[in-house]
Amino acid sequence: MDELLSLFNDDSELCLVAEDVKSGKILGFALGVILKRPQSSWKYGYFNWVGVQKIRQQSGVGKRLYNELEKRFKQKGARIAIVDVENNNPPGVRFVEGLGFKQAESYVWFSKNIED
Ligand SMILES: CC(C)(COP(=O)(O)OP(=O)(O)OC[C@H]1O[C@@H](n2cnc3c(N)ncnc32)[C@H](O)[C@@H]1OP(=O)(O)O)[C@@H](O)C(=O)NCCC(=O)NCCS
Repeated sequence: MDELLSLFNDDSELCLVAEDVKSGKILGFALGVILKRPQSSWKYGYFNWVGVQKIRQQSGVGKRLYNELEKRFKQKGARIAIVDVENNNPPGVRFVEGLGFKQAESYVWFSKNIED
């Protein structure tokens, strides 16, 4: 919830929902944020989070949400869009590949349990 509020406070125009016109129900959402690097004029559109109701998946909702988000990234001056997907989420990987994203770099996440 904190992350959601923080994204909304940062730029609500990059927090989108898809609504069923007939029922008014929310079918999905897409959240983004503009990132800037210190000492660089470049802006990045970070595609932060997306979700589509299970029964409405694979009917184009996610793609339409992303396309609108990308349009807004461009309007806000971003030149590159970035996204990260867990590699244990093959549908998510196929989804972002289908949107035209290419794997840019490989990161290895390490974890260490620091409980006593
Ligand atoms: C990933 C997710 C957002 C996709 O949304 P969606 O509305 O189902 O996607 P779309 O119908 O717009 O599909 C767009 C493309 O993604 C791919 N795709 C989507 N779901 C897929 C699946 N389950 N298996 C394989 N490919 C899939 C297809 O290539 C599709 O291209 P096509 O239209 O040429 O067939 C949705 O499945 C979801 O909410 N998943 C759970 C949350 C999640 O994993 N979010 C993080 C992903 S970054």
